Amino acid sequence: MTMPRGFGMGRMMRGGQDEGAPRALKVSDRRMLRWFYQNLGAYWPRLLLGVTAMLGATAAGLAIPLVLKDIFDKVILARDTAPLPGLTLRFLGLTLAALGLGAVRTTAMHLLGQHFVLKVRMDCYRHLMTLGLDFFADQRSGDLMSRISNDVGAVEDLVVHASDDVISNVLHVAGSAVLLFVLDWRMALVALAPLPLFVGMLWGFTRYIRPVFNRIRKELGEINARLQERLGGIHVIKAFAREEAESASIEASSRAYYEANCKSIWMWSTFFPLLSLVTTTGLVVLVWYGARRAATGTALTAMSTGTIIAFLRYMQDFYRPVGALARVQNVINRSLAAVARIFELLDTQPTVRDAPGAAELPAIRGRVEIAGVAFGYATGEAVLRDISVTAEPGEVVALVGNSGAGKTTLVNLIARFHDPAAGAIYIDGIDIRQVTQRSLRRQIGTVLQETFLFNTTVRENILYARPDASEEALIAAARGAHAHAFIEKLPDGYETVIGERGVRLSGGERQRIAIARAFLADPRILILDEATSMVDTEAELVIQQALRELMQGRTTFIIAHRLSTIRQASQILVIEDGRIIERGSHDQLMRRDGRYRAMISRQFQQVPELS
Ligand SMILES: Nc1ncnc2c1ncn2[C@@H]1O[C@H](COP(=O)(O)OP(=O)(O)OP(=O)(O)O)[C@@H](O)[C@H]1O
Ligand SMILES: [Mg+2]
Repeated sequence: MTMPRGFGMGRMMRGGQDEGAPRALKVSDRRMLRWFYQNLGAYWPRLLLGVTAMLGATAAGLAIPLVLKDIFDKVILARDTAPLPGLTLRFLGLTLAALGLGAVRTTAMHLLGQHFVLKVRMDCYRHLMTLGLDFFADQRSGDLMSRISNDVGAVEDLVVHASDDVISNVLHVAGSAVLLFVLDWRMALVALAPLPLFVGMLWGFTRYIRPVFNRIRKELGEINARLQERLGGIHVIKAFAREEAESASIEASSRAYYEANCKSIWMWSTFFPLLSLVTTTGLVVLVWYGARRAATGTALTAMSTGTIIAFLRYMQDFYRPVGALARVQNVINRSLAAVARIFELLDTQPTVRDAPGAAELPAIRGRVEIAGVAFGYATGEAVLRDISVTAEPGEVVALVGNSGAGKTTLVNLIARFHDPAAGAIYIDGIDIRQVTQRSLRRQIGTVLQETFLFNTTVRENILYARPDASEEALIAAARGAHAHAFIEKLPDGYETVIGERGVRLSGGERQRIAIARAFLADPRILILDEATSMVDTEAELVIQQALRELMQGRTTFIIAHRLSTIRQASQILVIEDGRIIERGSHDQLMRRDGRYRAMISRQFQQVPELS
């Protein structure tokens, strides 16, 4: 596969930061949280376990100060040791229960979080696979990788903190508040007075920190995009000795990431002490008020020492989780910034979609009819205009024309990588928009000028076309592609691992493996993008021969540069500026004093014996 446009130097040179990122969709928090909790529901057994353990731990934790109160009032102040063993045991039991249940809860929630991440990651990847080439042309793969690895990973925090921590802290806060009121409502009112201010500050803070978190995620995506793209071009970097400049460019995006992170740290670390100041002031007022009342109280308003002790403990129990909630809220902010990026991905709909209830394309004979097709990419003006051509089964159609004329675009329409803006394409009389893309593409074989191989064995690369093919079929395909002989000579034969994109093979060898792949797929329709090299070296001749055999009996659309290929075609389409300006066989076109003849004589004047 050729690298889609948009991965090229041009984009990087322009260096725009926002280019390539999906449209910044506004995703509301409410929508994200709804999605989150709906998905969470699928894990209800584990969630139930976690929440039950958490409730138990919270209840145990809340009961502890009451035991302390009794120890003070009934043992210490009453100078009576009789209740002490029972109370001590209760104290121990509650503490152990809180610890044990707490551990169960933490484990359950973290495991759940990981499971959730797994699911979301697979959802994202599956969704990504449904998107069309046009989407990938506009994306930087590193940024997509960052979304699927880093951003999805951040969802775990949302599970652990947004559900577990929020619920447990809210329960703690509510429980302590209730118990404070039960112990002494006047004190409770004083204790809780700073709460509205506290909540207001937190709410306001979110609005400032969220953009910073968004920026952090974006910069991380930027780093990954750059890294991925630059590593892919390592050959060019070395060839032009640009290593240092490249390091500098990575440093720039790393620095932006660093700065955004520092900013969030600064914001947080100035804000949090302010929050604490509010609660501490509240505590001071409370101590003053409580002490005054204890010292001057009448029988009605005085408090027992035990009550004061329990009260202080609940005060802590109240403001500690409130502080924790503030921190959790920060984590949620961070996670939601990541989830928003996941949503942008999941919200993107493929432009080419199977029609509702689309049928399978039955086994075809291979008649292709292109009827009045026009097309333009989303970004610009019309690339193809009023193209009509019919290829009978087994016929070879050659496309020739200047660079940028629209040849690749036209063959991409046959495989339905894009839908035409006007007109239609029929295969054996069936409009290709009425059948599933899968069944269509299974019957179309493609060999592109830049072959893409995966970093695995030769065998698996060929079998990619049909993983269940037999050994005989595999070898027959390799023989057909004139590849068997050289594969046998590789260190491990068919089991040789060929390196990323097949770097351990020569260009011609890669090409032949791609041809073998097409042989194995045995499609009725072939799309070939011939390599531009005009030199008929020996290796090229072998490839030529292999392609000729592959084309045997298949309807072929070939973007041709070699005269030998062009002459084989029964129809030649000369494409200029998105239109067919001449058509016919080689001989017919040579007889006419047109564009084709001019092109051929220009290109082949050095090798006149060929024409
Ligand atoms: N993904 C894309 N988005 C926007 N414009 C595109 C895209 N792909 C191609 N184009 C534009 O469409 C026009 C036709 O491109 P196409 O790749 O079909 O040309 P071609 O005839 O195959 O050229 P070549 O012989 O150089 O491969 C060009 O002007 C090109 O810039
Ligand atoms: Mg092309």
